[in-house]
Formats: sequence, structure tokens, C-alpha cells
Amino acid sequence: MKLGVLTGGGDCPGLNAVLRALVRRGVLELGYEFVGILNGYEGLILPELTMPLGLNEVRGILPKGGTILGTSNKANPFAYPVREGGKLVNKDMSEVVLKRIKALKLDGLVCIGGDGTLTMAHQLSERGVNVVGCPKTIDNDLSGTDQTFGFDAAVNVVAEAIDRLHTTAEAHQRVMVVEIMGRNAGFLTLDGGLAGGADFILIPEAPYSVEVMVARLQELYETKKKFAIVAISEGAFPAGGAQAVAQGADEIPGRGVVRLGGSGKVLADLLAPHLEAEIRVTVLGHLQRGGSPSPSDRVLATMYGSMVLDLVRDGKWDHMVCLRDGKLGFTTLSESRKERHVDLNGDKVRLAKSIGISFGV
Ligand code: F6P
Repeated sequence: MKLGVLTGGGDCPGLNAVLRALVRRGVLELGYEFVGILNGYEGLILPELTMPLGLNEVRGILPKGGTILGTSNKANPFAYPVREGGKLVNKDMSEVVLKRIKALKLDGLVCIGGDGTLTMAHQLSERGVNVVGCPKTIDNDLSGTDQTFGFDAAVNVVAEAIDRLHTTAEAHQRVMVVEIMGRNAGFLTLDGGLAGGADFILIPEAPYSVEVMVARLQELYETKKKFAIVAISEGAFPAGGAQAVAQGADEIPGRGVVRLGGSGKVLADLLAPHLEAEIRVTVLGHLQRGGSPSPSDRVLATMYGSMVLDLVRDGKWDHMVCLRDGKLGFTTLSESRKERHVDLNGDKVRLAKSIGISFGV
């Protein structure tokens, strides 16, 4: 069995841990051979973008962030940006990809990525490629699995940031707004806000009311506390308003989706006229994606890397590994294409509310 392996989309802590487990078990237990495809699907679109992937290559990478294979969130085989007559146009390169897979004599392709990468994997499967998927993202927004690796490390970054903001917020009696990644889902903000002890958790699932925020902030400033921490998702927005977009989908060739950013500033500008307290905004950005996977991410990534091989061995193509109710399993790749959202009536939201955290609604 010769497998091509690629990591696609935004990177995330734990990708290397998956690669290590995949190759170690694949080589040691099953006698499989692996080829590393570089920079996501780009490695199958452009020539010469592969690397050997054996025991030597995966040695020492368990705690390393990023991905030794590189990644890309613009390399869509079905809409790859190509310059034609000075203009970038999206071209269907799937035939090229199919030819490369044949030329490399791959029996299957392991695609490690988020919804975009897994959707493309499914599309390749429809074109006859043997594909298995492994879900990753710090956003934890993939349906089909309860948890993706990388999420825990990102929650740690958010919690530590909020801890640090507490001391300076208190010293200056300021409102500290911290903008957190997660795209259209509030999982990272919810867990990070809970772990850091934020006063407000604003998520895309619950458009916030400025009036409610102002009233609650005034209440807080009337108590002994006199400072506040607002954890806000990059995708959160005021009721009746819209998400803050840093770059439109058409401004980023090949990406196909908008880049969010600026929700913290939008909120600060809306609050400022109503408050005497100073407001400061911290955007955590890619700090949340960089660095080493947490121990629990490493374990999950190792479980996923190993489980991928069960799918390959059993011919479960067009499926991805997943975790449900604490148990490893698998589901169809199409399942990952549905977005997952925070349940506003779920246990965690109720818990947060019960201890006085406001969702601004
Ligand atoms: O999906 C992971 C993620 O980090 C999102 O939380 C964020 O919106 C996006 O990727 C940022 O992408 P980029 O690295 O391309 O700016």
C-alpha cells in the first residue's frame, strides 16, 4: 500500500503528531509506504512537490507546531488560481491532480484538513480517487466529530491571554476586549472565555445588543470590580449588523471565503460613546494557531493518525476519522461539510450564564 499524505488549509497544532503516528504505525505494523505531498493540494497541481515520508522524516516532530509538509488554503484542485493574460482566473486542475496521483502510483490519499480540504477530498473521491480524511482545525467547527486536535492548544492560548489581560485591566480599570479566532463558530471563544474567566462571551451564534452590553458594564463598574474582560469571536456581530470582514473572498485568489477580522474594534467603537471607562482591544490572531500542540492534542492527533490506517486497511474510502462521545470512529467525508455551531441551549452556555457571564443578549 502506497499512500500520499497532505495537510491542507490553515495549519494547526497537532498536524505533525498525526503524520508521526500515521507513518510509524503504517511502516512498523502494516508495512505501508508514504509519500509527502507538499503545500496541500498544490503538491499535486504543480510538479515536483513531494518528499519522502518515512520513519526518519517523522522523528522528533511530535511537539512541533505547523506541518512538515507545508500547507495552503488557496490550492483548490477544482478552482486553482492561474495567471492568464495578466489576470488571475480560477481553473479546474483536477485532471492534472488525477494524473499526478497515477504517476506517483498512489493506492490512496490521506487528506488532513478542515472543511475546505475535506470537501475537496470528497470531490476527488467522486472522481475515483481512494481518499480518507482526518479532521483538523482550531475552530472545532467540523460537523461529524466532537473535537478536532489543535482546539485545546488554542484554548490554552486564549485562556493565558485573558489571564494576562485581567491584571492590566484591573490596574487601569479598563474594558479589555479580546478578539478570538473561530470563523463562524464560537467554540474557541466559549471555552477560552470560560477558562479565562471573561465577563462577556460574544459569539457569532448570538448577535449581541449594545444596550445590553452597556447596561451590564455599568453594573460591573458600580460594583467593586471596576474592570471588564470581553471575549469576542472574530465572527461575532451586533444584532442587526454584519460580520467584520478583513478581506473579501474575491480579494484572495483561490480562497473562496472571506477573511474575518475587526469584530473587537467594531464593538469598542459601539461601546465608547456610552462608557467613561477606557476600552482597549487585543487581537490574538495567529498566536492561537502557532506553537506546540497541548498534551491532549498530541494524544488525539496520535489516535487520529493511527485510526486513519484502519480506514485504509478496511477500504473505507471517502470517510474520515472522528471522535464521538469520547470514542474514536469514522464518518463520511460529506458529513464534515456541514458547519457545526455552539448550541445556545447547551450545557456550556447554561453553565456560563449560571455564573454570571453575559452573552450580550
Ligand atoms: O480556520 C482556522 C482559522 O484560524 C480561523 O479561525 C480564521 O478565521 C482563519 O483560519 C484565518 O485564516 P488565515 O490564516 O488565512 O488568515
